[in-house]
Amino acid sequence: EELGDIQPRPPIITVLGHVDHGKTTLVDKIRSANVAKGEAGGITQHIAAYQVDHNGHKLTFVDTPGHAAFGEMRARGANVTDIVVLVVAADDGVMPQTVECIAHARAAGAPIVVAMNKIDLPGANEQKVLTDLANQNLLPVEWGGDTEVVRVSALNGTGLDNLLETLLVTAELKELKAPTDAPADGVCLEAFRDEGRGPVAWIIVRRGTLRVGDLVLCGPSFGFIRAMYNDRDEEISEAPPATPVRVAGLNAVPNAGDTFLVLADDDIDIAREVAETRQVRGRTELLSRRGGPRTLEEFLSKKEGTIRDLPLIVKADTPGSIEALRHELGKLQHDEVRIQIIHEAVGGVNESDVYLASSAGAIIIAFHVVPEDRAQSLAEQEEVEIRRYNIIYNVTDDIRGALEGLLK
Ligand code: GTP
Ligand code: NA
Ligand code: MG
Repeated sequence: EELGDIQPRPPIITVLGHVDHGKTTLVDKIRSANVAKGEAGGITQHIAAYQVDHNGHKLTFVDTPGHAAFGEMRARGANVTDIVVLVVAADDGVMPQTVECIAHARAAGAPIVVAMNKIDLPGANEQKVLTDLANQNLLPVEWGGDTEVVRVSALNGTGLDNLLETLLVTAELKELKAPTDAPADGVCLEAFRDEGRGPVAWIIVRRGTLRVGDLVLCGPSFGFIRAMYNDRDEEISEAPPATPVRVAGLNAVPNAGDTFLVLADDDIDIAREVAETRQVRGRTELLSRRGGPRTLEEFLSKKEGTIRDLPLIVKADTPGSIEALRHELGKLQHDEVRIQIIHEAVGGVNESDVYLASSAGAIIIAFHVVPEDRAQSLAEQEEVEIRRYNIIYNVTDDIRGALEGLLK
């Protein structure tokens, strides 16, 4: 796969912490806007993402309603977080929810930078916060550990430059990079139906550049991007890696945590099919993720005494290879299993193939071709089996052997 230029990208920083410890106020102050005041009851209901510029360096902040939303993203394998800012109110210290946030950050493998907030309050107890942190195995740098603890007041802005500098240093150590020319992929942070714009999704681009007009598959929705807005609600035409944007043009409302990817315009039918399958799956749960056989062995060991289809996707290096494979596989007749090639094409295994295989319960035969980077990881995520071959008789022998051996 041609990934294009690999460029440094801004860090994606998720702000976590106990309720009312000041996450939204902190992000709000950093972007000098006024999000917290506009919230109903001052409780964050949704994930919000903003990009800021500090001395010429961009940082992307994701403000969460709490650890649950973060955990959800992580559980869905869609975590985009590079660094966690753990907000701990100095008058309150580490609370049970703070401990859960620490666990989530660790499970996600994200380094933690602590923002000790509300130091302006008379009740602030810095030593207690440091002790609480040490008790969680977050030994502060000032005590000889390696956890950065930055004192801040989100309310009056104290320490915010320090915090941003610390975050930039932490990000630098990670050497974050992403291809910029490639078709985009990323994650849906949240989505809703807008009166005027229809389904709108808050997404964050992980890799590549997203453009108006791109065909996007996002969870159970798909569509050509009709309009795109940045975190200031300004209309934009393209979004490079780590940019949070709202997009309009999807045919349905996706879910928080759904991954999205850009497909070639030609793949519109695949996009529609996969999206529709997921809609059905979501509605009826008839086709649960683990409901159907995924590997050849699982398929064959699931004896039902009826004729079943073994759906295959064939990807190969040349039209001649495909012709030969179709011919050879066509000779493999079996009483109980009917081999069915649902898709065949010249070229490496790509994301569309994997999505198609995932929705159809198919196995992918890769003949003289390799899976593209993103396809391989996607296959792992979607539990799709990709079987690679270089010799045509190995394909048929393998499948015949499996048919005969396992169906005896
Ligand atoms: P949830 O989203 O509900 O979990 O809360 P949050 O962590 O986003 O906290 P939020 O920003 O809503 O702040 C909670 C309260 O703490 C508000 O009344 C803020 O004004 C106040 N607050 C936040 N930061 C500071 C600070 O540095 N000093 C003082 N004195 N108050 C603060
Ligand atoms: Na709050
Ligand atoms: Mg909040």
